[in-house]
Amino acid sequence: MSLRIDVLTLFPEMFGPILGTSIPKRAAAKGLVEYHLTQLRDFATDNHKSVDDRPFGGGPGMVMMCQTMFDAVEHIEAQDPRPATRILLTPQGRVLDQATAEELAKRDRLLLIAGHYEGFDERIIDGLAPMELSVGDYVLSGGELAAMVLIDAIVRLLPGALGAADGAADETFADGLIEYPQYTRPKVYRDMEVPPVLIGGNHAKIAQWRQAQREERTKTKRPDLWAAYEKRKSL
Ligand code: ADE
Repeated sequence: MSLRIDVLTLFPEMFGPILGTSIPKRAAAKGLVEYHLTQLRDFATDNHKSVDDRPFGGGPGMVMMCQTMFDAVEHIEAQDPRPATRILLTPQGRVLDQATAEELAKRDRLLLIAGHYEGFDERIIDGLAPMELSVGDYVLSGGELAAMVLIDAIVRLLPGALGAADGAADETFADGLIEYPQYTRPKVYRDMEVPPVLIGGNHAKIAQWRQAQREERTKTKRPDLWAAYEKRKSL
């Protein structure tokens, strides 16, 4: 059974180019994943097709309202008997990492909710009890780009999504370290040389050099990841 990903959004047209390109496209063509986009505004009941309203108590901006959101979620979930893992994209959420992407790639149904405006009526969060995820500590104009980041990170982990040419197992984050440096032809470019160990053909030496590079580069480029790596090793 393939992974079903539903997205609830005011801007479904943003997703076409991303889901229709490269690995997300190929994974769908191979039957590993299905994408279903739903327009939140279709669930508005007034003449203005409202999905948001002014906040009680005053303050700037608009708030996503309960009725359209609950009706849309219930409508989407009724389309398939498998229970969906509900995910709300919001800068208030836990920051997405590789372990979370791996965990979500094992589910069989995800419902991604992309918000807009100042935020959601808190009863949406209380009533739908979604997992709240952020893609980083900065504010986007809406949850759509965040949803696409999440979809891409998940879909490439589905068994069979990556061809042999794409590489996956020994890439950054597989074990908490970043990638070793890579080179391709030519051996010398503008006086910059490829490290001689890579040209020597000694595979044990190459593996040793690469591991040392991963550790060194993690220490200098990502001291936060290095600290977590050291902590895990000492447990
Ligand atoms: N919506 C707005 N900003 C966001 C972020 N950083 N992550 C997820 N959803 C968002």
